[in-house]
Amino acid sequence: MSRKVRVGVIGLGIMGQTHLDVYSQMDNVELVAIADQDEARLFGAVQAQGNIQGQGQGQADLTRVQRFTDGYELIESAAVDLVDVCVGTHLHLAMAKAVLLKGYHLMVEKPVAKSHAQGLEMLALARASQSFVMLGMCLRYWPAWVCLRQAIDDKRYGSLKSLSCSRLASFPEGEFYNSCEQCGGAILDLHIHDVDFISHCLGRPSEVVSRGHIGRSGGLDHVHTQYTFAGEFKDAVVTAQGGWSMAQGYPFNMSYTANFEQATLGYELGDGEHLILYHGGVAQAVDLAAGMGYEHEIKHLVRAILSSQSTDFDSLHSAVDALAVVEAEALSIATGQLQQPLYG
Ligand SMILES: NC(=O)c1ccc[n+]([C@@H]2O[C@H](COP(=O)([O-])OP(=O)(O)OC[C@H]3O[C@@H](n4cnc5c(N)ncnc54)[C@H](O)[C@@H]3O)[C@@H](O)[C@H]2O)c1
Repeated sequence: MSRKVRVGVIGLGIMGQTHLDVYSQMDNVELVAIADQDEARLFGAVQAQGNIQGQGQGQADLTRVQRFTDGYELIESAAVDLVDVCVGTHLHLAMAKAVLLKGYHLMVEKPVAKSHAQGLEMLALARASQSFVMLGMCLRYWPAWVCLRQAIDDKRYGSLKSLSCSRLASFPEGEFYNSCEQCGGAILDLHIHDVDFISHCLGRPSEVVSRGHIGRSGGLDHVHTQYTFAGEFKDAVVTAQGGWSMAQGYPFNMSYTANFEQATLGYELGDGEHLILYHGGVAQAVDLAAGMGYEHEIKHLVRAILSSQSTDFDSLHSAVDALAVVEAEALSIATGQLQQPLYG
């Protein structure tokens, strides 16, 4: 492979645009191709709008890239090493399969796929390939969430007693989000970030109890869940809520409160980003590394490809596990009963 990773990005909604901005700032990447069925997006006549300041700024110089109106054509004919799939979730599995069959490295946005069964299929395809496969679970790389994971792992403030995560927004609009068939509702599209992070840090939840309601997507657009764990975190009180049924104008807000034996960490991204450590009677702002999770995850991916690392299947598997957890949450809402996720 050339010293630079040659990248093609498929799907130029807010995520594709955000990834393009990141690639365009990297010396070890050559942006060679982009694809979107929507010519206005493909030729830059319209820019997608995101819910977090700093997403999709349209900073990439695209004057020399090849453009395709069909992502499959890009996969078939562009000279790339890595294909970054940022189309809607319902299209992830089929497109990921085409990328892996061509022998290219693969980045797929979250959620991995529309269902846990599809996620397991993706995992099997990844295992059968020689490619590096990465999923866009950006919170795992988001500086304030990396701090949380470190504090949980090294117990610098003692054991974790409770964790509550929240992610609320107004309805995102657009064809993809208006269709539960495509996006899976907020439970799959938005809340999955917290489900994934919780599973990534604390292991597989053994039981979930959820409440929620249907919203404009036609699917579950608000959910609140309590998670139970076996083993080390069996006494921790862990909850998450996520939804995009807030009134129009309500600003996107993500937050967590993590209470440890000797300290509390409080994080919020809304009007600015703040992580506060409450320890020994003092509240202290924690310095956070610059950049959003998207930047750090893509840098990690490119470094892994250039150093010929193989896929981290544990990481992939836990992202697929999160789909089983979301499905158990939906079942808990439908039945009004506690559910055990069915992991593969
Ligand atoms: N990591 C995050 O924080 C985050 C944030 C937003 C969205 N996402 C995920 O990113 C994905 C895309 O979301 P979005 O908001 O950008 O969606 P979107 O629908 O706005 O954009 C997807 C684009 O893909 C294009 N497309 C579809 N099929 C195509 C094909 N065969 N060939 C070429 N182009 C094709 C569409 O024309 C559209 O412009 C979703 O899975 C979503 O869940 C992740």
